This record gives sequence, C-alpha cells and structure tokens, in this order.
Amino acid sequence: MPLDHNETRSQIQRTTFGYTIHSYHKISSTNELAKEIAKKGVEEKTVVLAKTQTLGRGRTGRRWISPRGGIWFSIILKPQITSEDTLKLTFIMSLTAARMLKDAFGLNAEVKWPNDVLVRGRKICGILTEACTKMGNVEFVIIGVGINANIDLQAFPENLRKNATSLKHELGHSIDLKDFLMKLLRQFDDDYNRFQQGDWDFLLEEWKTLASFLGKQVQVTSFGEVFIGKAVDVTETGSLKIRLKNGTFKELVSGEFTMSQKYK
Ligand code: BTN
Repeated sequence: MPLDHNETRSQIQRTTFGYTIHSYHKISSTNELAKEIAKKGVEEKTVVLAKTQTLGRGRTGRRWISPRGGIWFSIILKPQITSEDTLKLTFIMSLTAARMLKDAFGLNAEVKWPNDVLVRGRKICGILTEACTKMGNVEFVIIGVGINANIDLQAFPENLRKNATSLKHELGHSIDLKDFLMKLLRQFDDDYNRFQQGDWDFLLEEWKTLASFLGKQVQVTSFGEVFIGKAVDVTETGSLKIRLKNGTFKELVSGEFTMSQKYK
C-alpha cells in the first residue's frame, strides 16, 4: 500500500519507561509506517502515533475510520515467540485497554474475542496485530491500536454508529489524550513484561474475567464457515472454544462473532 509521504513528523519523544514515540499529524496508517520503520531496523518499543490516518486499516482488510480526536498508534515489538503466539499480544493489549477503561473512567469495558474492547456492547477500541516472520522466526510484531477517544459519533459513517462508541460519548466529556496514551503504554509494558516472564496463564485468566460473552450463545464466522453454539472457553493458545448444538466442541483460531438467538 503506498504511503502518504506528506506526513509531517511533529516530534520524537522518549518515555521514562523506555518507549520512543514518533508522532505525526496525518499519515496513511500507523501500522504501515511502523512496518516500514521496523524493516529498516529500529529498536523494540518504538511507537508510531498519528492524529489522523487517511488509510487506517482494520481486520480482514476493512477500513478503519480515524478522525482527529482518536488515539491511533502502533507499537513495534521484538518478542522471542512463534508466529502463532503473536495472537497472545492482541489479548494482552485488549486486556490492558479494557482494564484501564474500567479503572480510569469507571466504564463497564469488556473484551470480545479476539481483538475488540466494547462498552455497552459497542466497539470502543480495535487492535490489529501483524507479525513479520523470516524462516519461521518472528522478526517483529506490530500491535496497531485504535481507540475512539474524543470523537463525536457523528464523525463515523451512519452504518457504523450503532455498533461503535467513543470515550467522549460514554463520559460526556473529552479526555486528555496524551495522559491516557502514556498510562496505557506504561500498563501495557507491565503486562508485556509479565508475558515475557511466563505469566501468560494469569493474563489470560484476567482477560476472561472481562469476557462476558463466555457462556453465551454465539454465531461465529471463521474462514467462510458459520458455527453456532455456546462460547465455553478461550484456550491457552487463544482459540475460541464453542459447544455446538450437537454437543461436540469446536476450537476456532480466527473469526468474528455475533451473539446468536438461534441456538437452543
Ligand atoms: C479492527 O478492529 O478491525 C482493528 C482496528 C485497528 C485500527 C488501528 S488504528 C492504528 C493502527 N493503524 C491502522 O491502520 N490500524 C490500526
């Protein structure tokens, strides 16, 4: 995807906890630029942040609407993990973000498998994790995070409004974007360090406490197939385990789900 190279880098900032933030006013996609920078060789924990994105990307090739007022950023990490384990980093980021929305603002934030954070059932944060591998080894991972922060819902196209929300809409006021980002990065770093030290099981257990879809009926589309059943668990590898109507279990490594009325 061609990058919009008219971007203006406003500043590079180093945080006290070791992240280097490259801030831009307007770029095509922070994930794209982060990938470009990472390929050239950059240190772990470099962050690309943009006030607005012209070609923001969501999962499955969807567009991600990124007006001003949102928090759009991508973190470059170089963990020593297999490509399958990169999914775990998405879980960790959604855990950090949901926990923070609860603790900092008292919002009833939930995680939705595999990569969303919801408030009142509406999406407030999406995560797009991409890995670059060479000969089966992960060279770097980009965790792209989009948080609908100081955004009026009218800024979204009409078809998205009923499924999306923003911090401004939920709280009734704007928040300090920089302060929020710094706290989020610091908390993420704590969780990432725990992951590196082997605490994945505990992180996943905490994630599940925020996953209110567990135990509910869902309809999952995975690689073009539709499965209807009860979401019973998220496994150690991050797969969604559902119990189908015929009593058998199915573990899905990827997909999208909606709550289902059809399962009896
Ligand atoms: C999704 O829910 O589909 C994932 C959305 C991820 C959006 C973020 S915004 C910052 C980063 N740059 C992108 O182009 N996408 C991610």
